[in-house]
Amino acid sequence: MGMQSTALPGGTWSLGDLTVSRFGYGAMQLAGPGVFGPPADHDSALAVLREAVDLGITHLDTADAYGPHITNQLIRQALHPYPESLHIATKVGAVRDRQGGWPPAREPDDLRRAVDDNLETLGVEVLDLVNLRLGDATGPRSGSLAAAFETLVELQRQGLIRHLGVSNATTEQVAQAQSIAPIVCVQNMYNLAYRHDDELIDRLADEGVAYVPFFPLGGFSPLQSSALSGVAARLDAPPMSVALAWLLQRSPNILLIPGTSSVAHLRENIGGANVSLSEEELVELDKIGR
Ligand SMILES: NC(=O)c1ccc[n+]([C@@H]2O[C@H](COP(=O)([O-])OP(=O)(O)OC[C@H]3O[C@@H](n4cnc5c(N)ncnc54)[C@H](OP(=O)(O)O)[C@@H]3O)[C@@H](O)[C@H]2O)c1
Repeated sequence: MGMQSTALPGGTWSLGDLTVSRFGYGAMQLAGPGVFGPPADHDSALAVLREAVDLGITHLDTADAYGPHITNQLIRQALHPYPESLHIATKVGAVRDRQGGWPPAREPDDLRRAVDDNLETLGVEVLDLVNLRLGDATGPRSGSLAAAFETLVELQRQGLIRHLGVSNATTEQVAQAQSIAPIVCVQNMYNLAYRHDDELIDRLADEGVAYVPFFPLGGFSPLQSSALSGVAARLDAPPMSVALAWLLQRSPNILLIPGTSSVAHLRENIGGANVSLSEEELVELDKIGR
């Protein structure tokens, strides 16, 4: 399994000592509707994961809250024992309630349990990358992350976690985490139409820290823009893949984790993300989020 990841658009990036393809895969939407329960089609969920790895993707993004547990179990079923080149990023800091909500769970005991659950459901001895997921479903919320982040640093010292990151974080929380221990990535919402983190991305690029946009295609309401469709039509590429090409060109520290439940979309997204956008096209696309 696994071609050289450099065959994928964007080449590779180093998350600490882990080399990953910049073109990754986000597994969240493999669970059932509302990221709850099992997928409608179990076998095609496994097929998407196997195809991602066969195409050379070496970075998967997940969380034990997806399903809950379902997405991690699918990853394990599809890909365990994992190829050595494959790295799986997970998140802790939120659980699911019976209504399908995402209540925060960031007390030390919650985080220890979440790390144990991820180790168990993914079937690994050490988690490659754990993001502390902050804020709530509406976005980042200000406030100290110290107690929660220090708990994860302790679990890292115990050998259960290789690298740390933060997610759904304010710029101040990113800096606060960095004052406590090194992070290798920030995973926040960002795409062509939602550009809140532009300054943060540039700062992290200078520091060699990855920025991993979630909802790179707009998430539950996929990107729709006449400027995007226009540029895509001229390039003869699917709009979604042009949105991904734009992210790859936006900054070298951006890693992609687009989601899809379809092998056809996965191939289409990779195929089209190779396009090189001209200055003129970049200016046109830049206007979408301004
Ligand atoms: N840290 C956080 O708080 C947080 C929050 C949300 C998400 N995430 C992470 O970010 C990852 C990405 O988010 P996401 O999957 O929700 O959103 P996304 O990648 O922005 O978009 C996924 C959606 O786009 C559709 N899509 C993909 N390729 C397409 C194509 N070629 N043509 C048409 N539609 C296409 C998918 O539908 P099909 O299935 O039909 O292809 C799916 O509905 C998640 O998997 C998760 O790991 C993190």
